[in-house]
Amino acid sequence: PVIRREDYQPPLWLVDHIRLEFDLDAHATRVKARLSVTRAGRHDRPLRLDGDGLVPLSVAVDGKALSPADWRLDDDVLVIALPGNAHEVETEVQIAPATNTQLMGLYASGGLLCTQCEPEGFRRITFFPDRPDVLSRYDVTMRADKATYPVLLANGDPVEQGELPDGRHWARWVDPYPKPSYLFAMVAGDLACNADSFTTMSGRAVRLGIWVREEDLPRTSHAMTALKNSMAWDERVYGREYDLDVFNIVAVSDFNFGAMENKGLNIFNSRYVLADPETATDPDYDAIESVVAHEYFHNWSGDRVTCRDWFQLSLKEGFTVYRDQCFSADMGSAAVKRIEDVRTLRAAQFQEDAGPLAHPVRPESYMEISNFYTATVYNKGAELIRMIALLLGPERFRQGTDLYFERHDGQAVTCEDFVKAMEDGGGIDLGQFRLWYSQAGTPRLTVRQRYDPASGSLSITLRQTVPPTPGQPEKAPMAIPVKFALFDPATGEHGGEELVVLTRDQLEMRREGFAQAPVLSLNRGFAAPVIVEAEQSAQDLAFLAARDDDPFSRYEAMQQLMINGLLAHISGAPLESDVIIDSIRRTITDPTLDRSFVAEAVRLPSEAYLGDQMQVVDPDAIHAARERLMTGIGEALESEWRALHAECARNGFSLSADARAARKLRGVALSYLVASGAPDGAALAFGQFDRADNMTERQAALAILVNRETPERDQALAAFYRRYAGNALVVDKWFQTQALAFHPDTVEIVQALAGHADFTLANPNRARALYSAFAANQWAFNRADGKGYRMVADAIIALDKLNPQTAARLVPPLGRWRRFDGARGAMMRAELERIAATPGLSRDVLEQATKSLA
Ligand code: ARG
Ligand code: ZN
Repeated sequence: PVIRREDYQPPLWLVDHIRLEFDLDAHATRVKARLSVTRAGRHDRPLRLDGDGLVPLSVAVDGKALSPADWRLDDDVLVIALPGNAHEVETEVQIAPATNTQLMGLYASGGLLCTQCEPEGFRRITFFPDRPDVLSRYDVTMRADKATYPVLLANGDPVEQGELPDGRHWARWVDPYPKPSYLFAMVAGDLACNADSFTTMSGRAVRLGIWVREEDLPRTSHAMTALKNSMAWDERVYGREYDLDVFNIVAVSDFNFGAMENKGLNIFNSRYVLADPETATDPDYDAIESVVAHEYFHNWSGDRVTCRDWFQLSLKEGFTVYRDQCFSADMGSAAVKRIEDVRTLRAAQFQEDAGPLAHPVRPESYMEISNFYTATVYNKGAELIRMIALLLGPERFRQGTDLYFERHDGQAVTCEDFVKAMEDGGGIDLGQFRLWYSQAGTPRLTVRQRYDPASGSLSITLRQTVPPTPGQPEKAPMAIPVKFALFDPATGEHGGEELVVLTRDQLEMRREGFAQAPVLSLNRGFAAPVIVEAEQSAQDLAFLAARDDDPFSRYEAMQQLMINGLLAHISGAPLESDVIIDSIRRTITDPTLDRSFVAEAVRLPSEAYLGDQMQVVDPDAIHAARERLMTGIGEALESEWRALHAECARNGFSLSADARAARKLRGVALSYLVASGAPDGAALAFGQFDRADNMTERQAALAILVNRETPERDQALAAFYRRYAGNALVVDKWFQTQALAFHPDTVEIVQALAGHADFTLANPNRARALYSAFAANQWAFNRADGKGYRMVADAIIALDKLNPQTAARLVPPLGRWRRFDGARGAMMRAELERIAATPGLSRDVLEQATKSLA
């Protein structure tokens, strides 16, 4: 059953209002729903209400019970023929949150009852037209045992509450804003609240609450600060104000992904809420800040203006990721944030775009929509908005977003509606730009430069090609904004940054007045999500690594220098590391540079990214070459690394930018120092591990120690486990760090960890900590004997029985079989075939496995 974008039909029945009554119980929850339905347009079709595993206990229309002859179940859909144009339809069902292992709908997590409805979980709670273009006002009453579930939360504002006999109590919440069912949420449990408040720009006082287990309360202050900063930022940058009297966040420990933007009641994976220096790393702090912002920003880009259908998912996700990226850039270092975002895009989205699961930002079809919460929809989608913002400039971009929010407030709309609002509000023609929404595949930009010494002119030829992707063999040229600058190598200056838009296959430009060949800095700021193929000499790259004033391009030049050296060595040349080492030396000793940037620039590219640059990925050769270069850099600069490691030590923990940058650079210095083979390497790492007063330094040291079989390795792993046993988020790190290790026995280590008493597939964070991390470990996962593939396939098959959504997310690494040699490829295919042939497989995993084989 394939759902296609072109088959969209508006809803035949609308639900203006829904009244829900819950009698909560972990094993048997009663759900009564009363829907005010109206016929949309002139037709005589019956009302169809989606359900998933529901059986109606009763059905009534306009207060009269229907006999079972008056309704039917068509698969899981409740079908009722209705005579008039407006009716009150009541249903009652019973559901069992405690046995809901899919974690979609209403489920139990650590003593709580909570919901996840996006995209199609509401139909597991009650019968309803579960599609985003049916917007309703919700009135929710919850009844529950007061001792077990003292706190009762839902969307909107709390309006009434009271006591009931038998130790039960009740609460009623009303959300005045019409919303689609995927934004419904409810939580019941024994929760403590970090309460605060925010006064909006028009003077509305909003009560803020972050709800967690009592013992986690001391770890909520960072999330609260992030929330208040987000609220202020959205007012200042987009003119968007919060619109209810309360805003609540709840942390739950069993959650399929990051977090969820339910109106007024965001529900979070606890890893994106809880932080203190002892248990969270600096990247964890950043992730919390950005996810809190992301979910908050959805209040406008998602809730007030929502999606017409799920093909439009990037309408809210791409835009909201762009908004949270800009927010984080404003809260910290914009340069480093851009580097991190591009690294994520390349690691996740470029790989997706180059493989069998490639799809456009606005997909054309799906079997299971949960499989389309992808890096393409999210991260490439955000790059599209970033390009629109670049083409418009800040003022006109704001006029465009103002018009978008004004025009579509309270509506369920399409990506096309967004683009149109940007055109109308910003005064621009985005005609050809729309191809970015419909064409999959990462465009390749090739560059040719010819310098003519006689005339002092440079001619630059840009060519684009967009590779074929599944279902899209031929591509039209895209509109690609290209930012560049030409540096005079004598002065180290450039004559101004330029922006050109490449709209055809090829563009030729001529620039005059160069006494010697200039150095080209291209795709500055990574303005367009493309792969640039420019043959730049090591000398030019070293120049840009030292002089480029665009921090992203400076970082990129440094990385490219390392990549070129490694790739040449992998294909047989001796390892040329002198220029690389010189550039690193210059970077780490440049006092004008932000240390956080320095740490990014001097780190080696990942094994996976190196693999992406090869025709056929050779995991062993990549690992060997990279280790060799690491050792070379370590040795050549040993005294510098030693000095940096000492100098970046701090007394007393601080979250200041300087302290964070020092921790990051200290970790990089330690990794080079240990790679150098210095006899005291393991002891130094263990010393940092042992004495650290924060998780950033402790985990950095552990991640280094796990790579080698030393007494310090085992000692550190045991000490870490002992110290943090019982703290699930930190135990996840313990599993993850071992799964990511550059250790020859990682496969066996992971296999043994799967049998550890603390391991369970039922908790998505734990399952991912082991298997997603392992599958991302290129050298280990692709070990030549194929054991890594088999282990992940076994995990997928086992997890699918509990939680298809999370299982499906483990499939794409096996889908990369075309990128490897024949022997590895055949083993990966065999595992995919074994998965696809498993009886009773979910639609989620079936879609991913069959598409990966095609
Ligand atoms: N809307 C949520 C967010 O981006 C994520 C929902 C993911 N749902 C899923 N089925 N993967 O913040
Ligand atoms: Zn989102």
